[in-house]
Amino acid sequence: MTDHRTHRRVFSGIQPSGVPTLGNYLGAIRNWVRLQDDHECIFCVVDLHAITVWQEPRQLAAQTREMAASLIACGIDPAGQILFPQSAVRAHAQLAWIFNCVARLGWLNRMTQFKDKAGKDRENASAGLYVYPSLMAADILAYHATRVPVGDDQKQHLEFANDIAQKFNHDYDVDFFPPIEPLIMGPAARVMSLRDGAKKMSKSDPSDQSRINLTDDADTVALKIRRAKTDPHPLPSEPAGLEGRPEARNLVGIYAALADLPPETVLAEHGGKGFGAFKEALAELLVAHLAPIAAETRRLLADPAAIDAVLRQGAARAAAIADPITAEAERLVGFLALGG
Ligand code: TYM
Repeated sequence: MTDHRTHRRVFSGIQPSGVPTLGNYLGAIRNWVRLQDDHECIFCVVDLHAITVWQEPRQLAAQTREMAASLIACGIDPAGQILFPQSAVRAHAQLAWIFNCVARLGWLNRMTQFKDKAGKDRENASAGLYVYPSLMAADILAYHATRVPVGDDQKQHLEFANDIAQKFNHDYDVDFFPPIEPLIMGPAARVMSLRDGAKKMSKSDPSDQSRINLTDDADTVALKIRRAKTDPHPLPSEPAGLEGRPEARNLVGIYAALADLPPETVLAEHGGKGFGAFKEALAELLVAHLAPIAAETRRLLADPAAIDAVLRQGAARAAAIADPITAEAERLVGFLALGG
């Protein structure tokens, strides 16, 4: 078993509830690719999480495969690292049940994502959506992973996972689950909707105009950026001038992340001008980044059996790590181990 005091295993996940967006890419996937160089990484397409809201069964399987293809096209290396669909490794659901019994209702009641997703019709939300954070804690802790690269919106869930790890260790008087370190990186840890600077860009937003999909073609990207909501003032020359201008801040953050420049440098170059020229430069930058990813995704999807083979192998490697850790958690809880 791994020694969590010295280990730096990375785990992260993404829901196959649609095509990945620019928010997923800049907030998470791009950082996953960078972490691969000097970490052991486990990346999971979380289909168990996706069904906490309704998914068409025929589409879910296809979207899971498409998400895996997108991740590989973005630069995830499925030979060096582990990439797999969550449902293929039973340990996630098994450990999540134990965590449901460790988590307190009071903790779950504070989760803002449940409130956002359930909306006004709370009584009609699935029970799975409510206990979603326990499953997320199990995803990470089944691997004794300690570093979790995510966008800003997942911060509260990771605090919840740390609370579960601590309470489990306390209740069973062990030092078994390690503390988790959230890695929230770069100037685009929270990419906002192109239509509303107060709303997060999301793959499940009903308006396609609100987001850039990693599969959008050059014309679509240019059009969405041209139509992106802005304000009537010119761009400021310094970041302080973005105060109270969420749409402008969002576009500058996206530009800075893509160009790998601090926002100061972006504004030093583009400040003082209207949005027209800036949007054109931004669209160009986006297309330069996304066109090769879209082309590679299409190429990979031409051979679905090859993707499935990669995922099957990833699931076997994932289970080899998660199964013994989960079995040990079950032993600590006091389940009768019958062996065999
Ligand atoms: P999901 O599928 O909503 O998003 C996947 C990753 O993309 C990040 N992200 C964003 N980052 C910046 N701006 C945005 N607009 C934006 N939208 C999404 C998310 O923060 C996330 O890192 N609960 C998770 C999936 C999950 C998971 C896990 C993550 C399940 N188990 C264990 C880490 C560890 C989710 O719904 O991500």
